[in-house]
Amino acid sequence: MIGVITGTGSWLPEQIVDNDDLARIMDTNDEWIRERTGIVKRRIIKEESTVSMATGAALRALEDAGVAAEELDMLLVSTVSSDVLLPSTACEVQKNIGATNAVCFDINAACTGFLFALNTAQAYFHAGLVKKVLLIGAESLSTLVDWSDRGTAILFGDGAGAAVLEAAEGELLPMVMHSDGARGEALTCKSPFAVRKSPLTVANMMKAVEKEDYVGMNGQEVFRFAVKRVPECVEELLDKCGKTTEDVDYFILHQANRRIVESIAKRLKTDISKFPMNLMEYGNTSSASIPILLDGLNRKGTLKRGMKLVIAGFGAGLSWGAAYMEW
Ligand code: COA
Repeated sequence: MIGVITGTGSWLPEQIVDNDDLARIMDTNDEWIRERTGIVKRRIIKEESTVSMATGAALRALEDAGVAAEELDMLLVSTVSSDVLLPSTACEVQKNIGATNAVCFDINAACTGFLFALNTAQAYFHAGLVKKVLLIGAESLSTLVDWSDRGTAILFGDGAGAAVLEAAEGELLPMVMHSDGARGEALTCKSPFAVRKSPLTVANMMKAVEKEDYVGMNGQEVFRFAVKRVPECVEELLDKCGKTTEDVDYFILHQANRRIVESIAKRLKTDISKFPMNLMEYGNTSSASIPILLDGLNRKGTLKRGMKLVIAGFGAGLSWGAAYMEW
């Protein structure tokens, strides 16, 4: 058995923060951000939280799939920005939506998290342990970034995306997953609960916490890692499937930076039109970016049944991976 996506949903905070808004609170400008990242604006929470966005995305995905919450066997949330350490975000969402029969847990694999959650779910489908699974990627990274660090603060946005998977006849889909803890220092957040706060107020930016407690990043190292490892792992995946890039309709990549996506497309010698992007609108929403992108394409009718997709994530850990799936 395999899991097939039968419904998607997403939930974005109402507050839109564009590059000019950021230029008013830090030494940056719209041109620099657009040129280096492709990002134009992002959503930042005000009243919302990781749990509330995850719940909103979950309800929309269930409605899209026509599945009742009680039918779910498993509910996985990928997040690095849970509202509290305990209980897990997955259990909080379970409570909110009434998924009383689901086993619920969180996965922390940063921007690769949704991909790892998807692959984990596929292994459960393959083992015959589940029939209906809800996957959610939900993040409020705005509460973890150092708003006085223009090198990272401009990149991230908040949001949640979700997908319902239902069991169908089929062979286990090829998947590739990698981790390299030895290079973990390139992207860190040492003490998230020391820094959590409502974002984008001067008072909060002045809060006295250690610099290293916030998200810290060696941007160039992460950039080099992504543009090398992601094409390698996509090629490894396609080899496993006996396919080529020509067989793939869309490459659904984690939405970190337009230059990263363009460079990956180039290394795969594949036209950029096969790499849909939403990072211009939402920035890097970490583990939420892939399901938000899937939901956008699904609701626009871009994705048609039978289309072949490669889904690939990469980020802190360092971690990266890819999965092949038929829509
Ligand atoms: N606005 C204006 N100038 C900025 C800036 C900003 N927001 N951020 C950095 N700069 C400045 C730097 O201070 C530096 O100035 P200097 O030359 O006077 O020292 C200059 O711009 C170049 O900085 P650099 O860090 O070399 O830029 P870059 O081309 O590497 O771009 C990133 C920076 C962060 C956009 C880029 O490295 C990147 O996207 N990396 C990947 C990060 C990522 O995607 N992480 C998440 C992965 S899941």
